[in-house]
Formats: sequence, C-alpha cells, structure tokens
Amino acid sequence: MTTDSGAHAVVCSRLAHAFGDTKAVDGLDLTVREGEVFGLLGPNGAGKTTAIRCITTLLRVPSGMVRVFGHDAAGDRMAVRRLLGYVPQQLSADSGLTGRENVSLFARVFDVPRRERAERVAQALGAVGLTDAADRLAGTYSGGMVRRLELAQALVSAPRLLILDEPTIGLDPIARTGVWEHITAVREATGMTVLVTTHSMDEADRYCDRVGLMHRGRIRALGAPVELREGLGERRRAEGAPATDPLPSLEDVFRDVAGSGLDEQAGDFRDVRSTRRTARRVG
Ligand SMILES: Nc1ncnc2c1ncn2[C@@H]1O[C@H](COP(=O)(O)OP(=O)(O)OP(=O)(O)O)[C@@H](O)[C@H]1O
Ligand SMILES: [Mg+2]
Repeated sequence: MTTDSGAHAVVCSRLAHAFGDTKAVDGLDLTVREGEVFGLLGPNGAGKTTAIRCITTLLRVPSGMVRVFGHDAAGDRMAVRRLLGYVPQQLSADSGLTGRENVSLFARVFDVPRRERAERVAQALGAVGLTDAADRLAGTYSGGMVRRLELAQALVSAPRLLILDEPTIGLDPIARTGVWEHITAVREATGMTVLVTTHSMDEADRYCDRVGLMHRGRIRALGAPVELREGLGERRRAEGAPATDPLPSLEDVFRDVAGSGLDEQAGDFRDVRSTRRTARRVG
C-alpha cells in the first residue's frame, strides 16, 4: 500500500458482487478522498446499496478489493467497522426503545468508553436536535425524527467515515435541509469523510464535493457537480446547441448517463404506440 492510498477514505478496485445472475456491482472502481462529501448517484437498481454494503463489510467482497483508510474490508473487517458510522436505506431504529436508548445501544456496540457514554449520547442527540424528544419512544417519532435519530446513532462513535444510504428519503424540504445541516456541522467540527447516496440531484449539487454516477454496477461519470454540468454543456455546444443555452443541471447529466436504460423504456413506449396505430388502421 502506498502512502497515497492511505490518505483515501475508501478505495474500491474492480469490486464485483452478484446475487445469482444479477450482477449488482460489476467491476466498480471508486475512490473517496479523506474529508470530502462524496455522492453516489444512480437509478434504482444501479448497485449503490450493494456497493455500500460491501464497503461496510455487511456483504462479503467476492471479487476485487475494498479498502477503508487502508484497511482491507475482506481481511480486516473489525478494523473497518470501527472506523465507520452507517445509516442504512431501510429505517432501522428500534421503535420500542426511546431515542436515548437507541443511541446508547450504538455507543455500547461501538465501544464508546463507559464513562463517556452518557455525555456522548446526549451530544449526538443534541447535534441532530432531538434533546427534547430523547426520552420518548422512537415509535412515536415522525419519519424525519427517526432519520435524525439514526444519524445520531451513526455519529455517537465519532466515525472517521459516515456512510448514509438515502438519508433524506421521505423527508419534507425543511427536514432534508436539517439533516444536511447536521451532517455539514459535524463534518466541519471533526473533518469526517461522508459517503452518501441520494436520488435528489439538488441535494447532490448543493452538498457534495464530488459525485459518481453509477449505472449497471459501475461508475459512468465522476467529478465535482459543476464540472459534470459544464462538461455536458460543452458537449452539447459541440453538437450544435446554441451558446445561449443555460448550463445543464445535474439531473440533465444523470439523464445523459442513465440514458441507455431510459431510452429502452422510451423505445418500448414508442413501440406500443405504433402497434396501437397499426391496430387502429387494421380495424
Ligand atoms: N438481497 C438481494 N437479493 C437479490 N438481489 C438483490 C439483493 N439486493 C439487491 N439485489 C439486486 O441487485 C441490483 C442492485 O440493487 P441495489 O439495491 O444495490 O441498487 P440501488 O442502486 O441501491 O437501488 P435504489 O436506488 O433503488 O436503492 C438490483 O437488480 C437488485 O434487484
Ligand atoms: Mg439502494
């Protein structure tokens, strides 16, 4: 391992993971730099959650390599787990425990020293604005509160790498901004690295230093959001678009990259319509 790769929070090299015949992750090369907020974007089924579960060691790495701060996810799972906090895509808080009990559980599991535990739990709850609701059952929380509770669970161990799979799904615009503000504040205070998936192109554009667009198990475009947008704008101009056209959005870039899948659907749609027309003519 070179010193350089040690400075990376995550390195995936030729990572592959299949479920039966489905190649969910198919030769993924990905580098997340220490201290950045990296957004993994891509259509449903692109393989984002599968890749993340390999990085968190929850899924084994059958082929290729994953390193987290230089530790091998296949060979040194405990070392990797100690470095990260993880908010899964599915809601995971225990509704039968209070907010404080949920976070305390994570503090115990992640070896936060007993003497520091109560204070660290209170701090994590405070960081996500749940101090007042801390002693209510999580089952009485709204969706946005549950998501913030899960963020507190992931933050209580002061991870060097925070991994969030769709942290703002189902949240109202104010709650979304709240979650991002909490993430940004903790990151500024601690220098933690953040790896996040999201379907919100606006959030990725606003909060991610770099994004990788994943499609069919691999990264198909990579860069700072503005670089990707400018790159598409240049290409369109080269193809004859007027120079006065506005800068493409990250959603335009997304459509461009995931286009092959979308085109197939559009093709099916056209086929259906032409079949209908034919049927009408015949009738
Ligand atoms: N446990 C599993 N068993 C079988 N197939 C799976 C399993 N988990 C994922 N897959 C398949 O692997 C592919 C990638 O799924 P994955 O959940 O990684 O995608 P994703 O990019 O996270 O999608 P989404 O945006 O919908 O969350 C899909 O075709 C999915 O059906
Ligand atoms: Mg997913």
